[in-house]
Amino acid sequence: MKIALIYFTGTYNTRFLTDKAEAEFVRRGHDVDRVEINCDTPVLDAAKYDLLGFGYPIYGFNSPLPFNRYVKRLRLRAGQKYFIYKNSGETLALNNASSRILLRRMAVMGGELVGEYHFVMPYNIHFPFEKDFVREILSYDQKLLRIMAYNLEHGIIQTLESNVLYDLASAAVSIQKLGGPINSFFYRVDEDKCISCGLCAKSCPEKNIRFEDGKLKFGHSCAMCMRCSFHCPKDAIRIGFLDGWRVNGDYGLARLEAEGPPEQPYITEESQGFYKCYIKYFQKIDEDYERLFGLSQKPAEYPEEWAEGSLIKT
Ligand SMILES: Cc1cc2nc3c(=O)[nH]c(=O)nc-3n(C[C@H](O)[C@H](O)[C@H](O)COP(=O)(O)O)c2cc1C
Ligand code: SF4
Ligand code: SF4
Repeated sequence: MKIALIYFTGTYNTRFLTDKAEAEFVRRGHDVDRVEINCDTPVLDAAKYDLLGFGYPIYGFNSPLPFNRYVKRLRLRAGQKYFIYKNSGETLALNNASSRILLRRMAVMGGELVGEYHFVMPYNIHFPFEKDFVREILSYDQKLLRIMAYNLEHGIIQTLESNVLYDLASAAVSIQKLGGPINSFFYRVDEDKCISCGLCAKSCPEKNIRFEDGKLKFGHSCAMCMRCSFHCPKDAIRIGFLDGWRVNGDYGLARLEAEGPPEQPYITEESQGFYKCYIKYFQKIDEDYERLFGLSQKPAEYPEEWAEGSLIKT
C-alpha cells in the first residue's frame, strides 16, 4: 500500500509514534509518506494514496485546532480508506469523542474509516510521568502499533465507541478555542532564566512567538501545544492559567523505549486512583497481541468472529 501519515504534534510524542508507525509499515513492505502539520504546511494530494493515517494528541478531549484546520483543506476520493492513531496521557472513555470533527469531515468527503486506535503517551501537561511508567507505556505502544498494522493489512476494522453524550461533553470542554487566544495574554518569559536561544520562537508550529527589541513576544494564535514551554532548555516560559500544570523537559522517549519495559510491572491489578484506567487498557492490548502473534511472534489465525471486514468494538 501507499500510505500517508498526516499528523500534528505539540511536544513530539505524536511525532515519535509516527516514526514508529512508519517503521512498522515500511518493515511490512509498504510505501510511507508523512506530513507534519504546521500553520503553513501545504495541503497534500491525498487522493493518490491507498490509505491515509491521521495522528494527533488529544487536547481536552478534542483534536488540536491546527489539525482540524488542515483536515478541512484536504480532498479525498469517494471511498478512500483512512485510519486514526491518536494519543493522550490517560484512557478515559471521553477521549473516544475526540475524533468527532475528523469523522464528520471525512464522512462529508466520503472517506471510509478502517480503524481507530488510541495510544497512551506521557503527559506533556498536568504532571510528568515517572520513567518506569513511560517505559511500560512505550512497550504497550509497540504492541498496539503491530496490532494496528496487522489489522489494517487484513481488513480487520477496529474502532472506538463514542456516543452523543461524550460528543456533547467533548464539545463543551474544548479548552483550546477560548484557552489559546485568551491564555496567551498571560504567557510570560522569566528573563532571569531565558538565554535567548530562540528555540521557542523557531519551533512554534503556529509562528506565535517572535523577538521584538530583544524580548520574546507571544501572539494570540496559540494552539496550546506546549512545545515552547516543554522544550525550553531553561524552563523559562510561564503558560498563563495552566502554569500550575506546566511540564518541562524531554522524556527521552527513544532511550526509554530502548531500555524496554520495567523489571516490575508499573500497572498492576492493585493500581488505584488515576492509574486504574490503564489496567483494562493494557489487558486488552495483551489479549489482542497474544491472540494475533502468540509467543511465537508469528501472526495467528483470527477467531471466526473476527472475520475479515467485521467490526470489532473496543
Ligand atoms: C492543552 C492540552 C490538553 C490536553 N488534554 C488531554 C486530555 O484531555 N486527556 C489526556 O489524556 N491527555 C491530554 N493532554 C496530554 C497530551 O494529549 C499527551 O501528552 C500527548 O501525548 C501529547 O502529544 P504531542 O507531544 O504530540 O503533542 C493534553 C495536553 C495539552 C497540551
Ligand atoms: S526557549 Fe527558553 S531560553 Fe530559549 S529563547 Fe525561548 S524562553 Fe528563552
Ligand atoms: S506559543 Fe507555545 S504553546 Fe502556543 S502554539 Fe506556540 S509553541 Fe505551542
